[in-house]
Order: sequence, then structure tokens, then C-alpha cells
Amino acid sequence: MRRRIIGKMYGVISSGKEARVYWAKSPKGEDLAVKIYLTSTSEFRKSIYQYILGDPRFEYIRKDTRELIYAWTRKEYKNLKRMYECGVRVPKPIFYMKNILVMEFIGENGVRAPLLKEVSLSDEEYIRIFNKVIEYIKILYRKAKLVHADLSEYNIMIFKGEPVLIDVSQAVLLDHPLAIEFLKRDIRNIVRYFRCELGLQVPSEEEIFKLVTSG
Ligand SMILES: Nc1ncnc2c1ncn2[C@@H]1O[C@H](COP(=O)(O)OP(=O)(O)OP(=O)(O)O)[C@@H](O)[C@H]1O
Ligand SMILES: [Mg+2]
Repeated sequence: MRRRIIGKMYGVISSGKEARVYWAKSPKGEDLAVKIYLTSTSEFRKSIYQYILGDPRFEYIRKDTRELIYAWTRKEYKNLKRMYECGVRVPKPIFYMKNILVMEFIGENGVRAPLLKEVSLSDEEYIRIFNKVIEYIKILYRKAKLVHADLSEYNIMIFKGEPVLIDVSQAVLLDHPLAIEFLKRDIRNIVRYFRCELGLQVPSEEEIFKLVTSG
């Protein structure tokens, strides 16, 4: 018999267009986050297909079936696992089945941690977080051979003063034909947020790109 993963489901933490995230507890009472991809919409299938195409881990996935959503869920699980094992702070992946992903809950007592977009910190704290995020981009690139591909202030949570990268279903391997383009976009998003929105002095996109990919 399959071991029980979820003991009790609680409320919705987030209800997006593509997925819902719930707070749940394991049979032992530990907090869990359960992300459920909503199957179907054809735009969603189209938009995610480009991240699956070119990934050797996901060849031969038919475009027009719920298979694609299952592959997408499996891809997020695998990406989380690979990132976690390389030392990048992400929610620890626990289990997946079909369109359901179970992972570590980032937050306390059913209250999720805030997103980078939602916090207000001192300049020193922000710079420390910035450096950590760049370090993670570098580990992803060098060690995990992955690019997050949707990195921004909306997909980074701040938990116990530290950044936690989330929402990694679209992350691609470096052999994906658009990997470098996605990497540049991630770096641009991060630099733009810290520089333009927070007004902090951080290195340029070019400098960071060099730092990540060489030296
Ligand atoms: N492991 C987690 N622990 C706690 N909260 C989480 C966790 N993962 C995601 N969340 C919350 O759920 C929200 C949506 O998750 P995520 O970004 O992975 O999905 P999404 O498909 O991008 O949804 P959206 O379109 O709403 O951003 C996050 O912004 C965060 O608030
Ligand atoms: Mg998101």
C-alpha cells in the first residue's frame, strides 16, 4: 500500500491561473505545501510546451493531452530536487503524482512567508539577499546545469531572513536552445528590481552574467 503523504488539507494559499497552492499537514503533523496544476487551458499548454521542448528529460510528450500537465508537474519536482541537492534554497520536494506536487511549506503555522516583492528591509539586508540570489543563479548554472527561467521578485520568498527560490517548473537544462536567453532575462529581472525599484547600487547585468558563467 502507498504510504500516506498528506494527513489533512487546509486552505488555499494561492490561487493562480495555472495552479493552486494549499497548506496541508503530513500524518505526523508537519506543514506541507501542495501545488495542484489545473489541467487543460490550451494557452497554458502552448506556453509551457516551449520549456519542455528541447529538454532531453521530457522527450515524446504529446502536446494535446493531460500528459503535458503531468510532465510539467514532474518537471517541477525534478527541478526542485536537483536544485535542493546542489545547495540552492528551494522548498524541499517531497512527492508528486499526476498534477499534484507536495513540498516543504515555506512559512509558519499555515502562514506563508512573504515574497521578496512584499518585504521591506534595510539596504544592508537587501544587498545580502541580492548576493545570495546571484550566488544561487551561479550554483544553478555551474553545478545543477539549470536556468530558473522565471526569476523575479514574485518567485523569491523571504523566510527567516533568507531567500528561497520557488516556482521552478519552467526551469531548463543548459542544453535547452533558449537557456542563455532565459539566464539573461533572469539576471535582468533581478538587477532591475534591486536597482530600479529599490534604488540600490548593484553590479550591471553584464558583470553578473560574466560572474555567473565564467571566473
Ligand atoms: N512551498 C511553499 N510554501 C509556502 N507557500 C508557497 C510555496 N510555494 C508557493 N507558495 C505560495 O504560492 C504562490 C504561488 O506559487 P508559485 O509561484 O509556485 O505558482 P504559480 O503557478 O506561479 O502561481 P502564480 O501565478 O500565482 O504565481 C507563491 O507566490 C507563494 O505565495
Ligand atoms: Mg509564481
